[in-house]
Amino acid sequence: MQKVLVLLGSNRPGRNGEKVARWFKDITNQRTDMEFEHVDIDDLQLPMYNEPRSPMEGNYQYDYTKRWSKKVADADAFVFITPEYNHGYPAVLKNAIDYLNHEWKHKPVGFISYGVNQGVRAVEQLCQVLRVLKMVPISTLPHVGFNIITEIDSQGNLLVHEGKAPAAQNMLDELKWWSEALSIARSKN
Ligand SMILES: Cc1cc2nc3c(=O)[nH]c(=O)nc-3n(C[C@H](O)[C@H](O)[C@H](O)COP(=O)(O)O)c2cc1C
Repeated sequence: MQKVLVLLGSNRPGRNGEKVARWFKDITNQRTDMEFEHVDIDDLQLPMYNEPRSPMEGNYQYDYTKRWSKKVADADAFVFITPEYNHGYPAVLKNAIDYLNHEWKHKPVGFISYGVNQGVRAVEQLCQVLRVLKMVPISTLPHVGFNIITEIDSQGNLLVHEGKAPAAQNMLDELKWWSEALSIARSKN
């Protein structure tokens, strides 16, 4: 069974990311065809990138890097949950990506984003970076995103409109297709 690592990519105290991640966890709980591990980037406790050697060598000095490396290496596919910060994605997420290299290679990645415009610019920026790591960014329509102005109420609850759950399931279907195809391709290397 394909293993999917779902990464919550913001760590701000009071972040909206937790609500989005909780909603998505319920979506993944409805599936029995893939295995999901939900990771909060805050729990990784990665300092600003400080490994002495290039991640391309895979020779890590610090235990936090070794732990993160194993998690990513064990996964067949990813879903990144990201907000939009200044038309990009959070620095903490770039930091976690940059720590590793081969562990990401030839694996697919889907996105759930949020922001004033559903965070789509963060996803576009992520795609540019993840392609350098030879990942395969998954694109589905409608995109799975939340508008933080109209889809969070005055109590701070996430308002999940009709169509959001099917869009997320569609993204997971596509992720599964790529995950299976790329697992076979990787096994031939
Ligand atoms: C530093 C910062 C910059 C932001 N810049 C943007 C932006 O460029 N576009 C946007 O749609 N939202 C922007 N926002 C709003 C965030 O998308 C929104 O606050 C979101 O909830 C942040 O994710 P988090 O709550 O998980 O930290 C920004 C928020 C922060 C904190």
